[in-house]
Amino acid sequence: MKLLVCGGAGFIGSNFVRQRVREHGDDVIVLDKLTYAGRRENLQDLEQVELVVAGIEDADAVRGAAEGVDAVVNFAAETHVDRSIAEPDAFVQTHAVGTWVLLEAVREAGLRYVHVSTDEVYGSIEEGSFTESSPLEPSSPYSATKAGADLLVSSYFHTYGTEAVICRGSNNYGPYQYPEKLIPLMILNALHGDHLPVYGDGMQVRNWIYVEDFAAGIGHTLTHGVPGEVYNVGGPDECPNLEVVRRIIELTGGDESQIEYVTDRPGHDRRYSLSSDKVRALGWQPQVRFAEGLERTVDWYRENTAWWEPIRSGDYREYYERHYGRSLG
Ligand code: NAD
Ligand code: TYD
Repeated sequence: MKLLVCGGAGFIGSNFVRQRVREHGDDVIVLDKLTYAGRRENLQDLEQVELVVAGIEDADAVRGAAEGVDAVVNFAAETHVDRSIAEPDAFVQTHAVGTWVLLEAVREAGLRYVHVSTDEVYGSIEEGSFTESSPLEPSSPYSATKAGADLLVSSYFHTYGTEAVICRGSNNYGPYQYPEKLIPLMILNALHGDHLPVYGDGMQVRNWIYVEDFAAGIGHTLTHGVPGEVYNVGGPDECPNLEVVRRIIELTGGDESQIEYVTDRPGHDRRYSLSSDKVRALGWQPQVRFAEGLERTVDWYRENTAWWEPIRSGDYREYYERHYGRSLG
C-alpha cells in the first residue's frame, strides 16, 4: 500500500511509519511541519521514507504529497495539554484549518482517510469506560479542538461520502515520546536526579497503551474499519499518576525524595478510560501490559541518550523553566 502519513515525524506517527514499512512493506511519504515535537531523527533509520516538510494547512503541499497514494493517515497535531492552556493558537490552526485542508484534498482525490484522535474528546469519567457513542465533553483547548476536528471529519463522511475513519487512542507511551509528557519526563528527570513534578494529589488516572499497540490498532482500522465509524483504541491497564512515578523511580534507581507536589493543571481531567470492544471485534487487541511496556520504555531512554540529549539542552530547557519554575540538572 502507498500511504501519506501526516505528522509522521512525531512520536506515534514515526512508530506507525516504522511498523508499516517493516511489517507490512508499505511505501510511505511523510508530510510534517517539524514543530518542536517533530524530528527528522525519529525517522533516521527509515531511509526509504520520503519526508515533505510542510504543514497540513498548506493545500498545495498536501495535494502534491497525496498524488498517487492509496490512503492518508493523519497524526499531525499539537498534542500537549499544558501548552494548549498557555498558548491555544496553534491548536486551533492545526486541528481546525489543517484538518479541513486535508479533508478537501482527500475528497478531491477520492482517498481513504484515517484520522487519529484521542480519548480526551470525551472528557473525564469517574467510573466505567467511554464507548464510541459517549457524548463529546472536552475540557481543554487541546481536547476541544481535537473534538472539533473529529466532528468535521464525520461531516465529510455524511455530506460527501468521504471514506473516513476516526481512531481515538488512550494515553500512549514508548520510544520517541517528547519529554514534556508524563512518562518520558519522569524517566529523564529520575535518571538525572531532578525533581519529579506531580500535579495536584497525583491520583488522576490514565488508561495507558504502548505505542506499538496503538499503531497496530490504527493500521487495523486502516484496512478493516468501516467508513464513517469511530473506533476507540484503549490500553489494557489504568494507573494513577503517582503509581506511574513510583514505578519509574523503581526502574531507574531514582529516589522517592525526588517527588515534588506542584500546582495542579487548571481544569485537570481526573480519569480517562476507554472501552475498545468495537475495534477488538475487528480482530485487534493490545499485546503489551503496562509493567512490561514501562520497562521497555525505560530501557529505550537509557540506551538512546543521543536522541534526547539535544532536546534537554535546547529550547526544551527554556520551556521547562517557564512552566515548572525550576531548572533541569
Ligand atoms: P507529537 O506531538 O509527538 O507529534 C505531532 C507531530 O505532528 C509532530 O511531528 C509535528 O511536527 C507534527 N505537526 C504539528 N502540527 C503540524 C501541522 N500543522 N502540519 C504538519 N505536521 C504538524 O504527537 P503524538 O503524541 O505523536 O500524537 C499524534 C496524534 O495522536 C495526535 O493527533 C494526537 O492527538 C493523537 N493522540 C496522542 C496520544 C498520546 O498519548 N500522545 C493519545 C491519543 C491520541
Ligand atoms: P500528559 O502526559 O501531559 O498527558 P495528558 O494530559 O494528555 O493525559 O499527562 C499525563 C498525566 O500526568 C496528567 O494527569 C497530568 C500529569 N502530569 C503530572 O502530574 N506532572 C507533569 O509534569 C506532567 C507533564 C503531567
